[in-house]
Amino acid sequence: MYISLRIILLYFFFSSGSILKSKVAEVTVKIHERRLLPCSESSDLENVEHIGWFRCSTADCELNWNKLRIAHVQNVEETIADNPNFDVFTNGTLLVRKVLPVDDGKMFICKTQKTFEGTGGSTTILNIKKEPPKLIPESPLEVHVIEGMDLHMDAGVQGYPYPWVTWSHNDLLLQNTSNVDSQTSLKIRNVTVSKGGLYTCYAKNSVGHHILTFKVYVEGQAVRTTTGLDIQTPSSSPTSALDIQTLSSSTTSGGSSFAGWKIALTVVGLLLFLMGTIGIFCILKKKRIPAKLQLCRLCRRRRYIV
Ligand SMILES: *[C@@H]1O[C@H](CO)[C@@H](O)[C@H](O)[C@H]1NC(C)=O
Ligand SMILES: *[C@@H]1O[C@H](CO)[C@@H](O)[C@H](O)[C@H]1NC(C)=O
Ligand SMILES: *[C@@H]1O[C@H](CO)[C@@H](O)[C@H](O)[C@H]1NC(C)=O
Repeated sequence: MYISLRIILLYFFFSSGSILKSKVAEVTVKIHERRLLPCSESSDLENVEHIGWFRCSTADCELNWNKLRIAHVQNVEETIADNPNFDVFTNGTLLVRKVLPVDDGKMFICKTQKTFEGTGGSTTILNIKKEPPKLIPESPLEVHVIEGMDLHMDAGVQGYPYPWVTWSHNDLLLQNTSNVDSQTSLKIRNVTVSKGGLYTCYAKNSVGHHILTFKVYVEGQAVRTTTGLDIQTPSSSPTSALDIQTLSSSTTSGGSSFAGWKIALTVVGLLLFLMGTIGIFCILKKKRIPAKLQLCRLCRRRRYIV
């Protein structure tokens, strides 16, 4: 690839005559980088009137380079960007605002036109550095949501070539997006308890891969009628314990009142039994009634009644 590029370049230089007698520079840049490319021949700018920057691939550099202008300087002072991703300074330096995949492996040709000496220029081959994917969490790795709410998980994505990114829930693939250049996210509306668990974000390109794991806890809404849910939710278990407490206290108080009634009835029964016994005693010993005992008087009266 590199050798073929060089051959084509040499062919290009020779075929275009003596207009380009400059060396070829090769630079390696990072994807999305802001980069300045100097036009090496513009070091002596004294007589340079016009500067043009062209971007072409090996396929179209030979014939169409002059149709692929990206920026130029006109009449020494006037700087014009033909492509919004580029700018140029009066010293001939090209500004690449953001290095994009479209720039990878391209030749950036600078051509200068001097007032009296004809033309010159330089060529720079831009290569974008290959980087394995990197996922940067942009939302918490541990998520607590309540059933019915929406769930969002976000991650920044780096790496070149742009990786493909998948999201999985407990090993079930949910989405696969290719050519992810900056950001990835997973949105789940109206979550249910079954949506809890592990979510895996996986990014892969030709040079590597990276994994990010999110833990999701979905709290079921405390529904009074469904006891199963009540037991699961920690907030409802103390209330159920309280319920049991109040229930038991009410039963004990009810029991005590019942016991009171029992005692009262027993006392009454005993009194009646005692009176009856005394009565019988009184009947058996008719004339020997102790005067001190009022009960015996009662007995006497009772005897008259009987
Ligand atoms: C050209 O000018 C720009 C802006 O003034 C500057 O950043 C850059 O370093 C200059 N380049 C050269 C080769 O002097
Ligand atoms: C995701 O898609 C890419 C192509 O777009 C494919 O190469 C890759 O195998 C897919 N990944 C999964 C896990 O299906
Ligand atoms: C959320 O999901 C539940 C159960 O699947 C459903 O009954 C309810 O209507 C959904 N709510 C919304 C706003 O989609």
